[in-house]
Amino acid sequence: MDKTPTSGIKFYITTPIYYVNASPHIGHAYTTIIADAVARFKRFKGDEVFFLTGTDEHGEKIKKAALAAGKNTQDFVDEVSLNFSRLWEKIGVRYDYFIRTTDASHRQAVQKAIKILADKGDIYKSTYHSLYCVPCEAFWTDTQVKDAGNLCPDCKRPVETIEEENYFFKLSQYEPWLKQYLKDNPGFVRPKIRHNEVMGFLDNNKLQDLCISRPKTRVGWGIDFPLDNNYIVYVWFDALLNYISALGFGGDEKKFKKWWPADIQFMAKDILRHHAIFWPIMLKALDLPMPKAIFAHGWWKIGEEKISKSKGNIVNPLDLIKDIGVDGMRYFLLREVTLGLDGNYNWTAVVNRVNSDLANDLGNLVYRTLNMAEKYEQGKVNPSHTGIPGIFKEIFESMQTKYIALMDDYDFSAALESIFAFTSVMNKYVEDTKPWNLAKEKKEEEIRNFLYALLEGIRIIAIYLAPVIPQTAASIMRQLGLPETFDFRDAVWAKYKSYSIKKEAPLFPRIET
Ligand code: MSP
Repeated sequence: MDKTPTSGIKFYITTPIYYVNASPHIGHAYTTIIADAVARFKRFKGDEVFFLTGTDEHGEKIKKAALAAGKNTQDFVDEVSLNFSRLWEKIGVRYDYFIRTTDASHRQAVQKAIKILADKGDIYKSTYHSLYCVPCEAFWTDTQVKDAGNLCPDCKRPVETIEEENYFFKLSQYEPWLKQYLKDNPGFVRPKIRHNEVMGFLDNNKLQDLCISRPKTRVGWGIDFPLDNNYIVYVWFDALLNYISALGFGGDEKKFKKWWPADIQFMAKDILRHHAIFWPIMLKALDLPMPKAIFAHGWWKIGEEKISKSKGNIVNPLDLIKDIGVDGMRYFLLREVTLGLDGNYNWTAVVNRVNSDLANDLGNLVYRTLNMAEKYEQGKVNPSHTGIPGIFKEIFESMQTKYIALMDDYDFSAALESIFAFTSVMNKYVEDTKPWNLAKEKKEEEIRNFLYALLEGIRIIAIYLAPVIPQTAASIMRQLGLPETFDFRDAVWAKYKSYSIKKEAPLFPRIET
């Protein structure tokens, strides 16, 4: 647990809002855990954080899912939305606000945004002809569909041809601005390969205006289009605005000004274009500042397939945590793959990661150290020397500098690696020191100093691990007999001069296959 903000820095962080046509799977959990780890990291630095997540509840796909479940649409979205918020609570996701696009305040913000754009002359009515994929809620050009063998380029299912009167947002008008903006701000779309992908797309395609309405007669589930009673708002236009409606755009100007623009917006690469093209243009047209960065991470796959409901290969986080615990799952997801790359999900990788890092390296270090503290010192460690041992110094200092910089850069995997490098040195210290021999020789002072050094090391790594595995960090603090409230200012050597141990069961039992 972190303390009150002290840095004077505000940090606004978002996840995508997830569709409620089905319950959350490991892919949704991944992005949300990423954002949670960043939020916790920033809070430990003393920043004031606003962490937003939520659910995307409109559109034809949702209506169809409710129908298939034999439920009233509102009841259905209430139920599935709850599956998301409940899962987040269960896996330690501490968001500040959970937005639902069926909230009245969101509806008002969307309607206000459309009125502003209409007053500016950025919205017009015209005939709309397109190929549309219902499950993906995506429109495709003739060439895109043709290239995909007359199927949806994403999900490879048949598309529908649509021709109707609709309202359009003048996206194309902002194309030159967007290109220049992306050129001038190469760190806006992260990682670099996604920046290049968007630039490449803009170089090879002329932006079309965006159709932002749907006739009520066809899609009856959405926000009323404020300019015309016969229409509702296109679900993506509605959804993207959640990032500002959640802050009070169009209602609570003070709160909105306090938090916007976002510092980082996370999503996976499947919705990169919506966030790197539509979203900045919508903000520009609304005269609002751009988010500082958007980060499109990779996909978790099984074999060659992206994990998704439509592929039928989902991993349910509730099942996984039964096997490896909440922190086991959080650790695996953030350690196994460098943010931005795809990850291959398989049980062998999960077991190896949890057993080798968490059970062997960390769990063993903590357990054996506390065991020795009980055995040799009856749980009370009062050293004569509180300095850092020579063999720790270099690796400890390198961990401190690397960890903060890597976490600030969202490289969780390397940040965790830097912590575990220190853990290994501590384990080696135990083997090299051979405390059992010191005990035989009655070198009590040496044993005390040795144990103290390990306890300090463990305490500091617990602080650094806390953004990723918060329950484990809290458990370590409890076992060290220390408060569970801390922040990064506490990660200094010899903050505590002695220890009173309260050992519990090992942190991570080995998973047997
Ligand atoms: N509702 C839209 C987003 C609107 S945001 C204004 C949507 N929803 S979704 O339910 O399909 O969620 C997509 C997001 O879930 C991805 O961008 C990613 O964050 C996460 N993931 C879903 N499947 C995933 C994987 N297999 N791997 C990694 N992330 C995954 O799109």
